[in-house]
Amino acid sequence: MNSEIKIGFLGGGNMSSAIIGGLVGETSLGATQFSKKSGVFSPNQIFVHDRNAAKNEALCAAFGITAFASAEQLIEAVDVLIIAVKPQGFKTAVIANLDTISLKKPLIISLAAGVRTKSIQAWVDAPLAIVRAMPNTPALIGEGATGLFATSNTSSVHKELADSIMSTVGLSIWVDSESDIDTVTALSGSGPAYFMLLLESMIAAAIKAGLDEDSAKILAVQTARGSALLVAASDKPLTRLRSDITSPKGTTEQAVNSFASSNLDGIVEQAFEAARLRAIEIADELE
Ligand SMILES: NC(=O)c1ccc[n+]([C@@H]2O[C@H](COP(=O)([O-])OP(=O)(O)OC[C@H]3O[C@@H](n4cnc5c(N)ncnc54)[C@H](OP(=O)(O)O)[C@@H]3O)[C@@H](O)[C@H]2O)c1
Repeated sequence: MNSEIKIGFLGGGNMSSAIIGGLVGETSLGATQFSKKSGVFSPNQIFVHDRNAAKNEALCAAFGITAFASAEQLIEAVDVLIIAVKPQGFKTAVIANLDTISLKKPLIISLAAGVRTKSIQAWVDAPLAIVRAMPNTPALIGEGATGLFATSNTSSVHKELADSIMSTVGLSIWVDSESDIDTVTALSGSGPAYFMLLLESMIAAAIKAGLDEDSAKILAVQTARGSALLVAASDKPLTRLRSDITSPKGTTEQAVNSFASSNLDGIVEQAFEAARLRAIEIADELE
């Protein structure tokens, strides 16, 4: 069935490029470094319209897909419309194409952070199947984590289709309540920056202690990578994996105790809540 589906991207920026790469089995960044996945969709099923002709041309050249000169032509041609414009331009992009969207009623997959499905439904006065997706930047190398929410008008077939599209750039998880997308935003949406911040601090501490910058970065990044892969591959609980490397009176225990005395849990919770509340605030502003 997927071989007959036509997928359109409104907006041809970084996230569209990543997902198109995933759909056809190419990663948009570091293709030589990461394993190439087999494409789930063929390039002739994928269409794009960006308002910048150069981006359309670049995507067609990179992935062998087809670009349309207008959003209207794109929407008329496709079964799934992935709206991948910035949140601030989202309402304008939908309003400008209301008639075509109402008539064609494609499955809408919105990637825009902070745009609620009830807003989209209110702008388009026709029953629509809408999936709201919150991906993250590791999608650029096919290692994304995406939270998905579907409106009640969205059939299980549409949900499966949305899942199969987003899963080409990593893994995806469904949430039952749209407010959970704000939590997903604070967890996996913003999460890559938290780990990068920790890496920056670890590298800076190692340099201060005398290690050269290249060695510090190589060791820190590989430690993050290896730790994530170990946690993902192991059946053991996270706390057990950590206690396995925290021997009494050892070096790791000293660092863990230091984190605890600085209230790491509280610091993380406070930062997490700041991100979650900002996600709610942005969505309120965009309504
Ligand atoms: N990148 C991420 O990590 C990430 C994570 C989660 C969610 N998202 C969401 O994914 C969406 C896309 O992000 P991105 O990073 O790919 O953004 P981006 O690089 O700015 O790409 C958006 C593209 O859409 C074009 N565009 C804007 N309005 C248009 C319209 N009405 N018709 C046709 N083209 C239009 C933009 O053109 P101009 O440059 O001329 O404006 C730009 O080329 C955003 O809503 C973002 O919130 C991204």
